[in-house]
Amino acid sequence: NKGKYEHYMQKEIHEQPESLTTTMRGRLIRGGSCKAKSVLLGGLKDHLKTIRRSRRVVFIGCGTSYNAALAARPILEELSGVPVTMEIASDLVDRQGPIYREDTAVFVSQSGETADTLQALEYALENGALCVGITNTVGSIIARNTHCGVHINAGCEIGVASTKAYTSQIVVMAMVALAIGGDTISNQARREAIIDGLFDLPKKVREVLKLDQEMRDLAKLLIAEQSLLVFGRGYNYATALEGALKVKEVALMHSEGILAGEMKHGPLALVDENLPIVVIATRDGCFSKQQSVIQQLHARKGRLIVMCSRGDAASVCPGGSCRVIEVPQVEDCLQPVVNIVPLQLLAYHLTVLRGFNVDQPRNLAKSVTTQ
Ligand code: UD1
Ligand code: BG6
Repeated sequence: NKGKYEHYMQKEIHEQPESLTTTMRGRLIRGGSCKAKSVLLGGLKDHLKTIRRSRRVVFIGCGTSYNAALAARPILEELSGVPVTMEIASDLVDRQGPIYREDTAVFVSQSGETADTLQALEYALENGALCVGITNTVGSIIARNTHCGVHINAGCEIGVASTKAYTSQIVVMAMVALAIGGDTISNQARREAIIDGLFDLPKKVREVLKLDQEMRDLAKLLIAEQSLLVFGRGYNYATALEGALKVKEVALMHSEGILAGEMKHGPLALVDENLPIVVIATRDGCFSKQQSVIQQLHARKGRLIVMCSRGDAASVCPGGSCRVIEVPQVEDCLQPVVNIVPLQLLAYHLTVLRGFNVDQPRNLAKSVTTQ
Protein backbone atom coordinates (compact mmCIF):
# COMPACT_ATOMS: atom_id res chain seq x y z
CA ASN A 1 0.00 0.00 0.00
CA LYS A 2 1.56 3.25 -1.18
CA GLY A 3 -0.76 5.46 0.91
CA LYS A 4 -0.47 9.07 -0.18
CA TYR A 5 2.62 8.39 -2.29
CA GLU A 6 2.88 7.71 -6.02
CA HIS A 7 5.70 5.22 -5.79
CA TYR A 8 7.11 2.80 -3.24
CA MET A 9 10.56 4.35 -3.51
CA GLN A 10 9.08 7.74 -2.65
CA LYS A 11 7.15 6.26 0.28
CA GLU A 12 10.21 4.40 1.55
CA ILE A 13 12.40 7.52 1.37
CA HIS A 14 9.85 9.54 3.30
CA GLU A 15 9.20 6.93 5.97
CA GLN A 16 12.84 6.85 7.09
CA PRO A 17 12.22 8.81 10.31
CA GLU A 18 9.80 6.01 11.30
CA SER A 19 11.87 3.09 10.01
CA LEU A 20 14.92 4.38 11.89
CA THR A 21 12.86 4.70 15.05
CA THR A 22 11.73 1.08 14.70
CA THR A 23 15.31 -0.03 14.03
CA MET A 24 16.48 1.48 17.32
CA ARG A 25 13.41 0.58 19.42
CA GLY A 26 14.32 -1.26 22.62
CA ARG A 27 18.00 -1.28 21.71
CA LEU A 28 19.22 2.07 23.06
CA ILE A 29 19.38 2.76 26.76
CA ARG A 30 19.04 6.41 27.58
CA GLY A 31 20.94 6.12 30.85
CA GLY A 32 20.27 8.16 33.95
CA SER A 33 21.64 8.94 37.37
CA CYS A 34 23.17 5.52 37.99
CA LYS A 35 22.92 3.85 34.59
CA ALA A 36 25.22 4.59 31.65
CA LYS A 37 23.92 5.26 28.18
CA SER A 38 24.30 2.02 26.29
CA VAL A 39 23.22 -0.31 23.51
CA LEU A 40 21.57 -3.70 23.83
CA LEU A 41 21.50 -5.98 20.81
CA GLY A 42 19.76 -9.18 21.87
CA GLY A 43 21.08 -11.12 18.90
CA LEU A 44 24.73 -10.33 19.62
CA LYS A 45 25.05 -10.16 23.38
CA ASP A 46 26.31 -13.73 23.83
CA HIS A 47 28.89 -13.31 21.07
CA LEU A 48 30.44 -9.92 21.87
CA LYS A 49 33.45 -11.42 23.64
CA THR A 50 34.29 -13.62 20.67
CA ILE A 51 33.91 -10.70 18.25
CA ARG A 52 36.15 -8.47 20.39
CA ARG A 53 38.80 -11.15 20.40
CA SER A 54 38.68 -11.79 16.66
CA ARG A 55 41.69 -10.95 14.53
CA ARG A 56 39.60 -8.86 12.15
CA VAL A 57 36.03 -8.11 11.17
CA VAL A 58 35.27 -8.57 7.49
CA PHE A 59 32.12 -7.04 6.04
CA ILE A 60 30.59 -8.90 3.10
CA GLY A 61 27.68 -7.78 0.92
CA CYS A 62 26.50 -6.61 -2.51
CA GLY A 63 25.17 -3.32 -3.87
CA THR A 64 23.61 -0.99 -1.34
CA SER A 65 24.27 -3.38 1.54
CA TYR A 66 28.00 -3.26 0.77
CA ASN A 67 27.84 0.54 0.73
CA ALA A 68 26.11 0.60 4.13
CA ALA A 69 28.91 -1.51 5.59
CA LEU A 70 31.48 0.84 4.05
CA ALA A 71 29.73 3.77 5.77
CA ALA A 72 29.96 2.01 9.13
CA ARG A 73 33.54 0.80 8.76
CA PRO A 74 35.28 3.86 10.26
CA ILE A 75 33.23 3.88 13.46
CA LEU A 76 33.64 0.14 13.95
CA GLU A 77 37.41 0.53 13.54
CA GLU A 78 37.47 3.46 15.93
CA LEU A 79 35.41 1.92 18.73
CA SER A 80 36.53 -1.69 18.50
CA GLY A 81 40.20 -1.28 17.63
CA VAL A 82 39.81 -4.44 15.52
CA PRO A 83 40.92 -4.19 11.85
CA VAL A 84 37.90 -4.06 9.53
CA THR A 85 38.10 -5.14 5.90
CA MET A 86 35.51 -5.06 3.13
CA GLU A 87 34.53 -7.71 0.59
CA ILE A 88 32.07 -7.60 -2.27
CA ALA A 89 30.53 -11.06 -1.92
CA SER A 90 31.06 -12.19 -5.52
CA ASP A 91 34.69 -11.05 -5.48
CA LEU A 92 35.45 -12.92 -2.27
CA VAL A 93 34.01 -16.07 -3.80
CA ASP A 94 35.78 -15.52 -7.14
CA ARG A 95 39.13 -15.17 -5.40
CA GLN A 96 38.43 -17.71 -2.68
CA GLY A 97 39.99 -14.98 -0.54
CA PRO A 98 41.41 -15.77 2.89
CA ILE A 99 38.86 -16.21 5.69
CA TYR A 100 40.10 -17.71 8.97
CA ARG A 101 38.72 -19.19 12.16
CA GLU A 102 39.85 -16.08 14.03
CA ASP A 103 37.75 -13.81 11.75
CA THR A 104 34.31 -12.41 12.36
CA ALA A 105 32.52 -12.29 8.99
CA VAL A 106 29.54 -9.93 8.90
CA PHE A 107 26.99 -10.57 6.14
CA VAL A 108 24.91 -7.54 5.27
CA SER A 109 21.78 -8.20 3.21
CA GLN A 110 18.38 -6.55 3.12
CA SER A 111 16.64 -9.55 1.60
CA GLY A 112 18.77 -12.19 3.27
CA GLU A 113 18.50 -14.13 0.01
CA THR A 114 21.18 -12.71 -2.32
CA ALA A 115 22.94 -15.62 -4.04
CA ASP A 116 26.46 -14.18 -3.96
CA THR A 117 26.22 -13.21 -0.29
CA LEU A 118 24.82 -16.62 0.56
CA GLN A 119 27.64 -18.36 -1.29
CA ALA A 120 30.18 -16.21 0.56
CA LEU A 121 28.46 -17.21 3.82
CA GLU A 122 28.77 -20.90 2.99
CA TYR A 123 32.43 -20.35 2.21
CA ALA A 124 33.05 -18.47 5.49
CA LEU A 125 31.22 -21.19 7.47
CA GLU A 126 33.43 -23.85 5.88
CA ASN A 127 36.48 -21.83 6.89
CA GLY A 128 35.36 -21.68 10.50
CA ALA A 129 34.75 -17.91 10.89
CA LEU A 130 32.13 -16.57 13.29
CA CYS A 131 29.34 -15.54 10.89
CA VAL A 132 27.13 -12.61 11.84
CA GLY A 133 24.07 -11.48 9.83
CA ILE A 134 22.69 -7.97 9.45
CA THR A 135 19.40 -8.67 7.70
CA ASN A 136 15.95 -7.17 7.23
CA THR A 137 14.02 -10.32 6.51
CA VAL A 138 13.26 -12.51 9.52
CA GLY A 139 13.49 -16.17 8.57
CA SER A 140 15.55 -15.50 5.43
CA ILE A 141 18.25 -17.99 4.57
CA ILE A 142 21.11 -15.67 5.56
CA ALA A 143 19.41 -14.89 8.89
CA ARG A 144 18.94 -18.62 9.51
CA ASN A 145 22.40 -19.75 8.47
CA THR A 146 24.47 -17.14 10.34
CA HIS A 147 25.60 -17.98 13.90
CA CYS A 148 24.03 -14.80 15.25
CA GLY A 149 23.04 -11.36 14.03
CA VAL A 150 20.79 -8.36 14.16
CA HIS A 151 17.52 -7.78 12.31
CA ILE A 152 17.40 -4.20 11.09
CA ASN A 153 13.59 -4.07 11.48
CA ALA A 154 13.21 -1.44 8.73
CA GLY A 155 9.89 -2.94 7.59
CA CYS A 156 9.17 -4.43 4.20
CA GLU A 157 11.01 -2.66 1.36
CA ILE A 158 9.34 -2.93 -2.04
CA GLY A 159 11.17 -0.48 -4.32
CA VAL A 160 13.98 -2.32 -6.08
CA ALA A 161 16.39 0.49 -5.17
CA SER A 162 17.12 0.16 -1.47
CA THR A 163 16.59 3.34 0.57
CA LYS A 164 15.24 2.87 4.09
CA ALA A 165 17.11 -0.43 4.49
CA TYR A 166 20.37 1.44 3.76
CA THR A 167 19.89 3.97 6.55
CA SER A 168 18.72 1.29 9.00
CA GLN A 169 21.71 -0.90 8.14
CA ILE A 170 24.10 1.95 8.95
CA VAL A 171 22.34 2.62 12.24
CA VAL A 172 22.48 -1.06 13.20
CA MET A 173 26.17 -1.25 12.35
CA ALA A 174 26.85 1.89 14.40
CA MET A 175 25.05 0.17 17.29
CA VAL A 176 27.13 -2.96 16.67
CA ALA A 177 30.26 -0.77 16.89
CA LEU A 178 29.06 0.62 20.23
CA ALA A 179 28.27 -2.88 21.51
CA ILE A 180 31.64 -4.32 20.48
CA GLY A 181 33.54 -1.26 21.65
CA GLY A 182 32.29 -1.63 25.19
CA ASP A 183 32.57 0.92 27.95
CA THR A 184 35.96 2.40 28.67
CA ILE A 185 36.64 5.71 30.36
CA SER A 186 38.61 6.93 27.35
CA ASN A 187 35.77 6.57 24.86
CA GLN A 188 32.87 7.44 27.17
CA ALA A 189 32.23 10.95 25.84
CA ARG A 190 32.34 9.74 22.24
CA ARG A 191 29.96 6.85 22.99
CA GLU A 192 27.50 9.15 24.72
CA ALA A 193 27.61 11.63 21.84
CA ILE A 194 26.86 8.84 19.37
CA ILE A 195 24.01 7.47 21.47
CA ASP A 196 22.50 10.96 21.85
CA GLY A 197 22.99 11.39 18.09
CA LEU A 198 21.11 8.15 17.44
CA PHE A 199 18.17 9.28 19.59
CA ASP A 200 18.07 12.52 17.60
CA LEU A 201 18.54 10.99 14.17
CA PRO A 202 14.89 10.47 13.15
CA LYS A 203 14.26 14.17 13.81
CA LYS A 204 17.25 15.18 11.70
CA VAL A 205 16.13 12.90 8.87
CA ARG A 206 12.68 14.49 9.04
CA GLU A 207 14.38 17.89 8.65
CA VAL A 208 16.49 16.82 5.68
CA LEU A 209 13.39 15.42 3.94
CA LYS A 210 12.18 19.00 3.66
CA LEU A 211 14.69 19.36 0.81
CA ASP A 212 12.27 17.39 -1.38
CA GLN A 213 11.22 20.33 -3.57
CA GLU A 214 14.78 21.64 -3.77
CA MET A 215 15.94 18.24 -5.01
CA ARG A 216 13.14 18.20 -7.58
CA ASP A 217 14.34 21.58 -8.85
CA LEU A 218 17.89 20.27 -9.03
CA ALA A 219 16.66 17.19 -10.90
CA LYS A 220 15.03 19.49 -13.48
CA LEU A 221 18.43 21.07 -14.12
CA LEU A 222 20.09 17.68 -14.53
CA ILE A 223 17.35 15.95 -16.50
CA ALA A 224 19.20 15.82 -19.82
CA GLU A 225 22.71 15.17 -18.51
CA GLN A 226 24.71 12.11 -19.56
CA SER A 227 26.62 11.73 -16.36
CA LEU A 228 26.94 12.83 -12.74
CA LEU A 229 30.01 12.46 -10.53
CA VAL A 230 29.77 12.31 -6.74
CA PHE A 231 32.88 13.03 -4.64
CA GLY A 232 33.11 11.99 -1.01
CA ARG A 233 35.69 10.85 1.53
CA GLY A 234 35.97 9.55 5.08
CA TYR A 235 32.57 8.76 6.54
CA ASN A 236 30.98 9.92 3.30
CA TYR A 237 32.95 7.93 0.78
CA ALA A 238 30.08 5.45 1.06
CA THR A 239 27.58 8.27 0.53
CA ALA A 240 29.26 9.08 -2.79
CA LEU A 241 29.10 5.44 -3.92
CA GLU A 242 25.52 4.99 -2.75
CA GLY A 243 24.30 8.33 -4.17
CA ALA A 244 25.79 7.42 -7.54
CA LEU A 245 24.31 3.92 -7.37
CA LYS A 246 20.82 5.38 -6.78
CA VAL A 247 21.12 7.72 -9.77
CA LYS A 248 22.45 4.96 -12.02
CA GLU A 249 19.98 2.24 -11.04
CA VAL A 250 16.72 4.19 -11.15
CA ALA A 251 17.33 7.32 -13.25
CA LEU A 252 19.34 5.28 -15.78
CA MET A 253 21.99 8.00 -15.92
CA HIS A 254 25.68 7.22 -15.74
CA SER A 255 26.93 8.19 -12.33
CA GLU A 256 30.12 7.44 -10.46
CA GLY A 257 30.98 7.76 -6.80
CA ILE A 258 34.58 8.85 -6.39
CA LEU A 259 36.85 8.86 -3.36
CA ALA A 260 37.90 12.51 -3.28
CA GLY A 261 41.45 11.55 -2.26
CA GLU A 262 41.79 9.87 -5.65
CA MET A 263 40.73 12.97 -7.58
CA LYS A 264 44.19 13.76 -8.95
CA HIS A 265 44.80 10.16 -9.96
CA GLY A 266 42.44 10.23 -12.93
CA PRO A 267 38.99 11.72 -12.30
CA LEU A 268 40.26 15.30 -12.56
CA ALA A 269 40.77 14.74 -16.29
CA LEU A 270 36.97 14.52 -16.71
CA VAL A 271 36.29 17.92 -15.19
CA ASP A 272 35.07 20.68 -17.51
CA GLU A 273 32.33 23.31 -17.50
CA ASN A 274 29.64 20.82 -18.53
CA LEU A 275 29.91 17.76 -16.31
CA PRO A 276 27.86 18.14 -13.10
CA ILE A 277 29.70 17.14 -9.92
CA VAL A 278 28.29 16.67 -6.44
CA VAL A 279 30.86 17.20 -3.67
CA ILE A 280 29.99 16.10 -0.16
CA ALA A 281 31.62 18.53 2.26
CA THR A 282 29.74 18.34 5.53
CA ARG A 283 31.66 19.10 8.75
CA ASP A 284 33.98 16.36 9.97
CA GLY A 285 37.71 15.73 10.21
CA CYS A 286 37.99 15.80 6.41
CA PHE A 287 36.26 19.17 5.93
CA SER A 288 39.33 21.25 5.10
CA LYS A 289 40.52 18.61 2.62
CA GLN A 290 37.12 18.77 0.91
CA GLN A 291 37.32 22.57 0.81
CA SER A 292 40.56 22.20 -1.08
CA VAL A 293 39.00 19.66 -3.46
CA ILE A 294 36.21 22.17 -4.17
CA GLN A 295 38.76 24.90 -4.89
CA GLN A 296 40.62 22.67 -7.30
CA LEU A 297 37.44 21.62 -9.11
CA HIS A 298 36.38 25.25 -9.21
CA ALA A 299 39.71 26.27 -10.73
CA ARG A 300 38.93 23.86 -13.59
CA LYS A 301 35.49 25.43 -14.02
CA GLY A 302 33.69 22.36 -12.64
CA ARG A 303 29.86 22.58 -12.42
CA LEU A 304 29.65 22.08 -8.67
CA ILE A 305 26.79 21.05 -6.43
CA VAL A 306 28.13 21.08 -2.87
CA MET A 307 26.48 19.32 0.05
CA CYS A 308 27.47 21.09 3.27
CA SER A 309 26.39 21.50 6.87
CA ARG A 310 23.72 24.10 7.51
CA GLY A 311 25.22 27.60 7.65
CA ASP A 312 28.37 26.60 5.75
CA ALA A 313 27.30 27.71 2.25
CA ALA A 314 29.65 30.70 2.21
CA SER A 315 32.66 28.69 3.39
CA VAL A 316 32.28 25.92 0.83
CA CYS A 317 31.21 27.81 -2.23
CA PRO A 318 33.85 30.16 -3.65
CA GLY A 319 32.19 33.40 -4.70
CA GLY A 320 28.70 31.88 -4.64
CA SER A 321 29.57 30.06 -7.86
CA CYS A 322 28.04 26.68 -7.05
CA ARG A 323 24.72 25.21 -6.05
CA VAL A 324 24.55 24.27 -2.40
CA ILE A 325 22.58 21.60 -0.56
CA GLU A 326 22.55 22.44 3.16
CA VAL A 327 21.87 19.58 5.54
CA PRO A 328 21.56 19.36 9.33
CA GLN A 329 24.78 18.42 11.08
CA VAL A 330 24.87 15.31 13.26
CA GLU A 331 27.63 13.29 14.97
CA ASP A 332 30.22 12.67 12.20
CA CYS A 333 29.78 8.87 12.05
CA LEU A 334 25.99 9.25 11.67
CA GLN A 335 26.22 11.96 9.01
CA PRO A 336 26.00 9.41 6.14
CA VAL A 337 22.43 8.63 7.27
CA VAL A 338 21.44 12.28 6.78
CA ASN A 339 23.56 12.92 3.68
CA ILE A 340 22.18 10.09 1.58
CA VAL A 341 18.60 11.40 1.84
CA PRO A 342 18.93 14.37 -0.59
CA LEU A 343 20.66 12.05 -3.07
CA GLN A 344 17.84 9.50 -2.76
CA LEU A 345 15.37 12.32 -3.43
CA LEU A 346 17.44 13.54 -6.37
CA ALA A 347 17.54 10.05 -7.92
CA TYR A 348 13.81 9.66 -7.36
CA HIS A 349 12.86 12.96 -9.01
CA LEU A 350 15.33 12.49 -11.87
CA THR A 351 13.69 9.15 -12.63
CA VAL A 352 10.14 10.51 -12.60
CA LEU A 353 11.11 13.52 -14.71
CA ARG A 354 12.96 11.33 -17.20
CA GLY A 355 9.88 9.10 -17.43
CA PHE A 356 11.40 5.83 -16.18
CA ASN A 357 9.99 3.16 -13.91
CA VAL A 358 10.99 4.11 -10.36
CA ASP A 359 10.06 0.98 -8.49
CA GLN A 360 11.17 -1.55 -11.07
CA PRO A 361 14.14 -0.23 -13.00
CA ARG A 362 14.78 -2.03 -16.26
CA ASN A 363 16.85 -5.22 -16.03
CA LEU A 364 17.07 -5.18 -12.22
CA ALA A 365 15.50 -7.36 -9.53
CA LYS A 366 14.87 -6.68 -5.85
CA SER A 367 16.55 -9.84 -4.83
CA VAL A 368 19.21 -11.45 -6.99
CA THR A 369 18.92 -15.15 -6.20
CA THR A 370 20.85 -16.43 -9.22
CA GLN A 371 24.43 -15.83 -10.27
C1 UD1 B 1 14.09 -10.33 19.55
C2 UD1 B 1 12.82 -10.63 18.75
C3 UD1 B 1 11.86 -9.46 18.83
C4 UD1 B 1 11.57 -9.15 20.32
C5 UD1 B 1 12.87 -8.96 21.10
C6 UD1 B 1 12.53 -8.86 22.58
C7 UD1 B 1 12.70 -11.97 16.69
C8 UD1 B 1 13.05 -12.12 15.24
N1 UD1 B 1 13.13 -10.90 17.35
O1 UD1 B 1 14.71 -9.16 18.98
O2 UD1 B 1 10.66 -9.77 18.14
O3 UD1 B 1 10.79 -7.97 20.41
O4 UD1 B 1 13.73 -10.08 20.90
O5 UD1 B 1 13.66 -8.87 23.35
O6 UD1 B 1 12.03 -12.82 17.24
N2 UD1 B 1 19.93 -13.47 13.89
C9 UD1 B 1 20.83 -14.18 13.12
N3 UD1 B 1 21.18 -13.67 11.89
C10 UD1 B 1 20.66 -12.52 11.40
C11 UD1 B 1 19.73 -11.80 12.20
C12 UD1 B 1 19.40 -12.30 13.44
O7 UD1 B 1 21.32 -15.24 13.52
O8 UD1 B 1 21.00 -12.13 10.28
C13 UD1 B 1 19.51 -14.05 15.20
C14 UD1 B 1 20.01 -13.28 16.42
O9 UD1 B 1 21.29 -13.70 16.84
C15 UD1 B 1 18.93 -13.58 17.43
C16 UD1 B 1 17.67 -13.73 16.59
O10 UD1 B 1 18.09 -13.97 15.26
O11 UD1 B 1 19.20 -14.82 18.05
C17 UD1 B 1 16.80 -12.49 16.64
O12 UD1 B 1 17.53 -11.35 16.25
P1 UD1 B 1 16.96 -9.88 16.50
O13 UD1 B 1 15.55 -9.83 15.98
O14 UD1 B 1 17.91 -8.89 15.98
O15 UD1 B 1 16.97 -9.89 18.10
P2 UD1 B 1 16.29 -8.89 19.14
O16 UD1 B 1 16.49 -7.49 18.76
O17 UD1 B 1 16.72 -9.35 20.48
C1 BG6 C 1 19.96 -6.04 -5.69
C2 BG6 C 1 19.06 -4.91 -5.28
O1 BG6 C 1 20.89 -5.60 -6.65
O2 BG6 C 1 20.64 -6.57 -4.57
C3 BG6 C 1 19.83 -3.85 -4.51
O3 BG6 C 1 18.45 -4.33 -6.43
C4 BG6 C 1 20.54 -4.48 -3.32
O4 BG6 C 1 18.93 -2.86 -4.04
C5 BG6 C 1 21.38 -5.68 -3.75
O5 BG6 C 1 21.35 -3.53 -2.69
C6 BG6 C 1 21.82 -6.50 -2.54
O6 BG6 C 1 20.65 -7.04 -1.95
P1 BG6 C 1 20.52 -7.49 -0.46
O7 BG6 C 1 19.11 -7.97 -0.35
O8 BG6 C 1 21.52 -8.60 -0.28
O9 BG6 C 1 20.79 -6.33 0.40
